[in-house]
Amino acid sequence: MFHELRVEAVERQGPDAVAVTLAVPEDLRAAFRFLPGQHLTLRHRAEDGTELRRNYSICTPATDPDGPADLTIGIRRLPGGVFSAHAVERLAVGDTLSVMPPAGRFTLVPKPGRVAAITGGSGITPVLSMASTLLAVEPEARFTLLRSERTAADGMFVEEVAELKDRYPDRFQLVHSLTREDLHAGPASGRLDADRLRTLLPALLPVADVDAWYLCGPPGLIDGARTALGDLEVPRERVRTELYHPDDARDVPTGPVRAAAPGGETTGPARGAMLTATLDGRSGGGPVGEGETLLDAVLRGRPDAPYACKGGVCGTCRALLVRGEVRMDRNYALESEELDAGFVLACQSRPLTPEVELDFDR
Ligand code: FES
Repeated sequence: MFHELRVEAVERQGPDAVAVTLAVPEDLRAAFRFLPGQHLTLRHRAEDGTELRRNYSICTPATDPDGPADLTIGIRRLPGGVFSAHAVERLAVGDTLSVMPPAGRFTLVPKPGRVAAITGGSGITPVLSMASTLLAVEPEARFTLLRSERTAADGMFVEEVAELKDRYPDRFQLVHSLTREDLHAGPASGRLDADRLRTLLPALLPVADVDAWYLCGPPGLIDGARTALGDLEVPRERVRTELYHPDDARDVPTGPVRAAAPGGETTGPARGAMLTATLDGRSGGGPVGEGETLLDAVLRGRPDAPYACKGGVCGTCRALLVRGEVRMDRNYALESEELDAGFVLACQSRPLTPEVELDFDR
């Protein structure tokens, strides 16, 4: 459900980005409680009347048990991005934004131990919330951050990260890599690709002792970091990823995802498949039109169905495949354990059997 929140501050973060702070009214604070790493879904009506939804990670620390009195998100202008251009050029204090309560499973639950993150560009946003929360609430925790930007001017939340360094000099380790500036040549200069990370990480920290790794940024950075961590024998279950800039993502079709109960024989892309979906305890059904995803088919009868990016990235449309078989066009949101458990992204799923059933409530 969307709520209207007032813009309390808009602060420039370099030429192409802003930090937007939203006031959370007293009666909504509990509903907007969040875990570090979660995002807000914003709804915006473009000039031509189209409804847009965009996810932006919260960068505020999650330290108030009553829920936040305000929330800050970072918005970077994307090429052709209608909402991001509006936010960077015109959003002003006193405006309101239509906002869904925090969601997302790229999260950190604070506990003692060692955490490391590798970020590229605006991927710093959720990780700033993770680092500031963990260091504030767990005196025994340590955080290592490797952040990468093209130039110093591109960096978002540079001052906020520097403040963490000042406040926790023994527990917060920072490596800032600028990929297009020779001035900063040094061990961490240049791209954070797999080769560089393979050498850099063991020199920086005891890799085997890191309890959780968080990777957040564009596809190239995530692929390289995953490869390096695999080569350094980091167990897969310790690595969490969130992709930024979905438009750069390649389509990587998944293999067929099967539910425990088959929905008839697999036919290849099933024409006229029937979909049953459960959402907020109510079930309904209808045909899946030619070329439609399961989310498109659900939205026809249930406009309240959850989604944001429609690009296989945010995971908002996750649902359990109860019956049948589907193929996903791309998946940058679900981990392999979730796929094994039968979860799919409705916005990327196309039916392979004449009957499919989804449950959005699990
Ligand atoms: S709506 Fe974002 S993954 Fe489906």
